[in-house]
Amino acid sequence: MNVMNRTSIPQYDWDELVQEDRVHRALYTDPAIFAQEMTRIFGGAWVYLAHESEIPNANDYITRKMGLRPIIVTRDSNGALRALYNRCTHRGTTLCRNEKGNSRSFQCPYHGWNFLNTGKLRGVPWADGYSADIKDPKFNLAQVPRVESYRGFIFGTLNRKAPSLLQWLGPITRPIDEWLDRNPGGKVIVCEANRFKYKGNWKLAYDNSSDGYHVIYSHRSLLEMENRLIDEGDKGMAFYKNSPDSLAMYVQYMGNGHHFKDKRPNLQARPGGLWAIESSHPGMEHAEQSLRAKYGARAESLLDLAGSEPVNINIFPNLSLLGNHIQVFQPVSVDETDAVWYGTRIEDVNGDIGDALPVINALRMRTQEGFPNFGEVDDIANFEQIQRGLACVEDEWIYMNRGHGLPGRIKHNPDGTISAPATDEIFMREYIKEWKRIMKDDAPLEIQRET
Ligand code: FES
Ligand SMILES: [Fe+2]
Repeated sequence: MNVMNRTSIPQYDWDELVQEDRVHRALYTDPAIFAQEMTRIFGGAWVYLAHESEIPNANDYITRKMGLRPIIVTRDSNGALRALYNRCTHRGTTLCRNEKGNSRSFQCPYHGWNFLNTGKLRGVPWADGYSADIKDPKFNLAQVPRVESYRGFIFGTLNRKAPSLLQWLGPITRPIDEWLDRNPGGKVIVCEANRFKYKGNWKLAYDNSSDGYHVIYSHRSLLEMENRLIDEGDKGMAFYKNSPDSLAMYVQYMGNGHHFKDKRPNLQARPGGLWAIESSHPGMEHAEQSLRAKYGARAESLLDLAGSEPVNINIFPNLSLLGNHIQVFQPVSVDETDAVWYGTRIEDVNGDIGDALPVINALRMRTQEGFPNFGEVDDIANFEQIQRGLACVEDEWIYMNRGHGLPGRIKHNPDGTISAPATDEIFMREYIKEWKRIMKDDAPLEIQRET
């Protein structure tokens, strides 16, 4: 019997803890709930693991986590994507200590057991010291039984009863497709990352990632800097400053815990319309001038390739696509989270960008110095302060009731998605229902081994 089926699950009244317009503080502070999340949410849902561009060649690998489980995501010698448990089957040490590399096999640093990148045990030192058959599959590495990729984004689940990845993503594939298809060849290459860590629960970041209510208050200094430096009033997220709910931007709950903030309807619909709201970043003016001098009117659409797309595409539980970036939420403990922002670059797939490509990619990198640096710190300060506030044990409830119960404010769409004005908290109320469903779900979680 798989031990996962015997995992003891604390008995909570989930319907008491998660109500229509509020949740209990225990969701953010209780280590037992966190432990169950790491098993059920980060095991029973499809969890983002890595991007295919990080392991483009056979035998490439990168080490990641699935909840708290260390994982080696690899493209094995036959080109198949695998998510191996990074845990030696001998005495349990982490097998691969490198962040990434290229290897057909992994040798355990402890006693030298050697595993192929299919997970199969290749050999052990001085095998004559074993009466056990070391070819028994139980000595092969555990691995995630279902690994699938959607347009380069690799996900895994331990839940054999989960829907296909495509079904799980559902309507959120539309903004993902649009985010990719604005680039040549419909793709991005994931680059190195900006790594943040905060002393707070991982859901605080996911709660915030479509929150249009906080922007003008929490990011005031960023907005003032972006707009004062260049004496204009419409850069960055300036559209939040007056009556954001009256603008064309909106928030949308996409099902299965995914949510989406779409600020693109605020843009001017013309080449250069996206670049027009890009705020100043170090070195930007020179690059911009060189493109305009060389390409004339065509520079507008080239600059748009560098612009930060004003969307927040949030894929439950741990992935966001924002601007030119990919953000990954990695829980560490109930009150500690890594929030990693990967840059992305584009390729000249059709050969029509030419010399402008390195300039565009340099500008894309510079956009990391906009929101991902100067905005994320504001958000992280909030997350840490919430975690502190939640130490007030007797004050139990967290409200997510903005927009709740107001007739006509929320629109149920034919595809099952729900749209609302930009500052609405409908996305929180809905995603936390999905969280509750998965926490209650007792579908068995399974590993597999090569035979
Ligand atoms: S723990 Fe890996 S070889 Fe002993
Ligand atoms: Fe924010």
